[in-house]
Amino acid sequence: MSAEQPRVVVGSHAELQKVLSTEFSARAAEAIARHGRFVLALTGGSVAPAFFPALAALPIDWSRADIFWSDERAVPPDHPESNYGLASRLFLMPARVPAERIHRMPGELPDLEQAARRASDELKSIAGDPPHLDLALLGVGPDGHIASIFGLSAGARSAKADGTSRTGGTGLQPCPPVIAVYNSPKPPARRLTMSFPVIASAGQVIVIALGAAKAPVMRAAIDGSGETPVAELLRRRTSSLVLLDREAALS
Ligand code: 6PG
Repeated sequence: MSAEQPRVVVGSHAELQKVLSTEFSARAAEAIARHGRFVLALTGGSVAPAFFPALAALPIDWSRADIFWSDERAVPPDHPESNYGLASRLFLMPARVPAERIHRMPGELPDLEQAARRASDELKSIAGDPPHLDLALLGVGPDGHIASIFGLSAGARSAKADGTSRTGGTGLQPCPPVIAVYNSPKPPARRLTMSFPVIASAGQVIVIALGAAKAPVMRAAIDGSGETPVAELLRRRTSSLVLLDREAALS
């Protein structure tokens, strides 16, 4: 796949929020007009408190939005570490998203393989097989991880590698849409994540990096030299939107 440069916007929080809101609204309108629904994946991390309240206030028909997560920690939904819980407080409740449109990953299940299968099935039932997201909103770690994909060859690999769930890294072979992660370097170690191909094939991908710790990895991802999940994502796609605060853009 060709590697066009991503669109990169550097700005203050307010400036980034404006760009994000414009892109989000346009994608929602386009998706609803085209296929009657807006299928999106949310992120956890610092992006949520920074931007979710403003997204919740957008004049979007949330009854047409199907909300998934790019990753989830293996905790119950009411746990302080839950990505769903965070989004619920900051986004879903204020936006009054109907319960049947909220498709959280069941991080509370003791059997993570079962949880991954259940999340994969739910994603496929709404977004098709292979699933197609209209929009994936992603944070990024200082090591270049996106969602809970922590490396190109091993990051999203299931510890119970069984031939089908080993390919979550770069996704060159078929792999389930959602896979279990047992060894995340970012706590907690046990997680669920959408696999790389689902994220990389989304209609639009918005990567948001906040803070100086992200600057080196984002510089390498944008100039095409990085060997990280975020770099590979930007390389694989013909278009993406990257939002950097001023600290994350310092070189
Ligand atoms: C999570 C996230 C993860 C996050 C990055 C960046 O579950 O933690 O979904 O992918 O977006 O780790 O997190 P920060 O923005 O907090 O650094």
